[in-house]
Amino acid sequence: MIVTAGRSSPGPARAASPLLALTNVEVRYQGSILVLKNVSLSVGEGEVVALLGSNGAGKTTTLKSISSLIQSEEGRVTEGRIDFLGAPIHNQDPVSTVRRGLVQVMEGRRVLEHMSVEQNLIVASAPIKASRHQLGQALEEVYAIFPILSEFRDRQSGYLSGGQQQMLVIGRALMAKPRLLLLDEPSLGLSPLLVHTIFASIVRINRELGTSILLVEQNAKLALGIAHRGYVLENGRMVMDGTCDDLLNNEDLKEFYLGIGVTGQRRSFRDIKQYRRRRRWLG
Ligand SMILES: Nc1ncnc2c1ncn2[C@@H]1O[C@H](COP(=O)(O)OP(=O)(O)OP(=O)(O)O)[C@@H](O)[C@H]1O
Ligand SMILES: [Mg+2]
Repeated sequence: MIVTAGRSSPGPARAASPLLALTNVEVRYQGSILVLKNVSLSVGEGEVVALLGSNGAGKTTTLKSISSLIQSEEGRVTEGRIDFLGAPIHNQDPVSTVRRGLVQVMEGRRVLEHMSVEQNLIVASAPIKASRHQLGQALEEVYAIFPILSEFRDRQSGYLSGGQQQMLVIGRALMAKPRLLLLDEPSLGLSPLLVHTIFASIVRINRELGTSILLVEQNAKLALGIAHRGYVLENGRMVMDGTCDDLLNNEDLKEFYLGIGVTGQRRSFRDIKQYRRRRRWLG
């Protein structure tokens, strides 16, 4: 069983003013393709917040809007605002966003395969221009969270297993000393045992390093098992938010994510919502 950050214990205290706030955000690709509409969410200092939703809901786009990485795909925040530490950060230079303390771990395991584990980590600290002392400290923090990376520090990273590469990718993000980490489907393609290890590490990052986390996951049970609270995105719109218990006990989510339908078959969330959404969430 994974140690939870939020449900059995409140974890680090939540601050009154959010670290990150999205307010009525609209995002378009190539100036016309509307992907996010009126999306609002917040992450408080010290929180782990889950962002759930099915394929194509707009989860990755939400994260890339926050980190400004959508710009590399001709994406832009066209309405609303995104504030981090009380200042707007949308449509900015992604490197300056990293320097402010906000780092996204992209979906998939992208490491510099020809470099050693430690070289991968060192290179990842470049945006913050760390001193030698800070660099050593950051490496020790990453090795404390992922001891296997310390053991393999001189190994060429292309030879690491999938799970170890996922740890390295998260470790690389930690090298920039983020106050907020955006994680895009860290469980993707991993065995249940490795998923357990990765999620336990996410909890440790939150608790021991005090890093706030916005966690995108398709596996609602898994994400809500470690988060303080969550949001559900569907077709580019926010359709639900609440505590983990509220969401886990929500009949629609249960039916969709846990497959407890009338026929016992997992149905499309869209079908379920056709008759429920308007009544329950949109008044
Ligand atoms: N660069 C792009 N240009 C145009 N449309 C895009 C682009 N990237 C994503 N989209 C569209 O935006 C919508 C949301 O995609 P996004 O990748 O954000 O969803 P997601 O919730 O992360 O899905 P998944 O669970 O499959 O990762 C989809 O309809 C997708 O086709
Ligand atoms: Mg995605």
